[in-house]
Amino acid sequence: MPMNIWTCRFRSHDMLAPFTAGWQITDVNPLVIDKSEMNFLAIYVYDINGKKYLDSLAGLWCTTLGGSEPRLVEAATKQLQKLPFYHSFWNRTTQPSLVLAKDLIETFTARKMAKAFFVNSGSEANDTQVKLAWYYNNALGRPNKKKFIARFTSYHGSTLTAASLTGLSILHHKFDLPAPFVLHTDCPHYWRYRLPGATEEEYSTRLADNLEELILKEGPDTGCYVYDINGKKYLDALAGLWCTSLGGSESRLIEAATAQLKKLPFYHSFFNRTTEPSLVLANELIELFTARKMAKAFFVNSGSEANDTVVKLVWYYNNALGRPKKKKFIARDESYHGSTMIAASLSGLPALHYKFDLPLPFVLHTNSPHYWRYHLPGETEEEFSTRLANNLEKLILKEGPDTIAAFIAEPLMAAGGLIPPPATYFEKIQAVLKKYDILFVADEVLP
Ligand SMILES: Cc1ncc(COP(=O)(O)O)c(C=O)c1O
Repeated sequence: MPMNIWTCRFRSHDMLAPFTAGWQITDVNPLVIDKSEMNFLAIYVYDINGKKYLDSLAGLWCTTLGGSEPRLVEAATKQLQKLPFYHSFWNRTTQPSLVLAKDLIETFTARKMAKAFFVNSGSEANDTQVKLAWYYNNALGRPNKKKFIARFTSYHGSTLTAASLTGLSILHHKFDLPAPFVLHTDCPHYWRYRLPGATEEEYSTRLADNLEELILKEGPDTGCYVYDINGKKYLDALAGLWCTSLGGSESRLIEAATAQLKKLPFYHSFFNRTTEPSLVLANELIELFTARKMAKAFFVNSGSEANDTVVKLVWYYNNALGRPKKKKFIARDESYHGSTMIAASLSGLPALHYKFDLPLPFVLHTNSPHYWRYHLPGETEEEFSTRLANNLEKLILKEGPDTIAAFIAEPLMAAGGLIPPPATYFEKIQAVLKKYDILFVADEVLP
C-alpha cells in the first residue's frame, strides 16, 4: 500500500474495532475508507489514498440503497436542520419514527400485534429479541423457557448477547462466551456438511431431527421422552411408572419444587404440625371428587405405601365398628398393587409372591376381568361380568362375609396389560360387595 501522511497518521490509532481480540488480532494500520460513489451499475468506496473498491458487502449489508444516495442525503440533512435527535422514552417520540414504524409494518402481511422497535445496530436488535422473548415467556408463566438455539457458523453481531448467539468460536474465545442460555445446532451448509449421497431434502431432515433431539435433551420440557446414559432416546409410554403424566421435566413443576426447596425443603405432619402446601394440595385433591363427604387426603411416597395404608385404615374402620373379624381383602388375579409386603400380597401376580411367603393369609384373589383372554366360547361381555360377579359371591360365602373387609381393584388395569373393565363388570361387582357390606377400594393410577 502506498504510504502517505494519512496512513502514517492512523498507523496506530485509538479505536477498538468490533472484532478486536476475535478475528482481528491487530488494530494497527487499518484500511481507512474515506468516501463513496454510486453509479447505476455499482457502489464504490475510496480509501484515504484515493484507491477505489467495489463495496460488494454494501457497508456491512446496510447501504443497499447506495453509498451516497441523494434522497437519503437530502432527507438526513433536512432532519438534522429541523431536529437532529429526540428520544422515545416516557411516551414521547418524533414524527419520523412513527411514520417509519408504520411503513415498516405495512411491508408485512402477518402484522397482527406487530410493532417496530428502533435500535442502532443488528447486534442491538438481537439483544432486544432475547429480552422480548424472555419477557414473553415470563408473561405466559413459563419462566424456565429462556434458552436460545442458534446455528454453528451463524453471525448475529458483536455485543455480548449477539456474539453469544453467533456460532463462530473465534468470537467467543477468551470472552467467556457463549452465555449459558445459548445453544448451537447444525450449520445449514449442505455443500460442506452433507453426508455422502444425501440429498438436500435428506440433509434438511437430519438437521431438523438433530434440532429436535437438542430441544428434547436440553428441556426444560423434555415431554414424554427419556434418554439413557449413552444418549439413546425412548418414548416414555408408561409416563415414569404412571406418575409423570405432566411430562418429564415440566417447567412449572421444576419451578415450584425449586422455590419450595429454597423456602422449606421438608417438614413433617406429625403432632398437629404441617405445612401450607400439604393443606392446599389436600384441598385441591378433594375438590376433584364429587363424593367428598368425610373425605381426607393421606400423603405417602408411593403407590405401595398407599395400599399398605388402605389396609391399615380399613382394619381400623372395622375395629371401630366392633367387627374385629372382618379383615380379609379380596384382590384380582393379574392385578398390580405394588411391591411392599402388603401391596405385593394384594397383587395377583405369582412372580411377586414366589419364595417371599406371599400373599399374606388375609389376602384372597378372584378372577381377572380380562374378557378377551378368559371369556368362554360365545360368552358376551355382560355374561362374562355376571360369571365373575357370581364367582366373587361364591368366594365371599365360602370365606364368610363377616371376615371380608374390602375388595381392591384398579378401575383400569395397568400392569396386568391395560385391561378396560368388561361391560357391566363394576355394577355387578359392586352390587355383590354392597350386599355383604364389603368396602370397595379403587387403586386408581391410570386416568
Ligand atoms: C395400580 C397400582 N398400584 C400401586 C402401584 C405401586 O406404586 P409404587 O411403584 O409407587 O409403589 C402401581 C405401580 O405401577 C400401580 O400401577
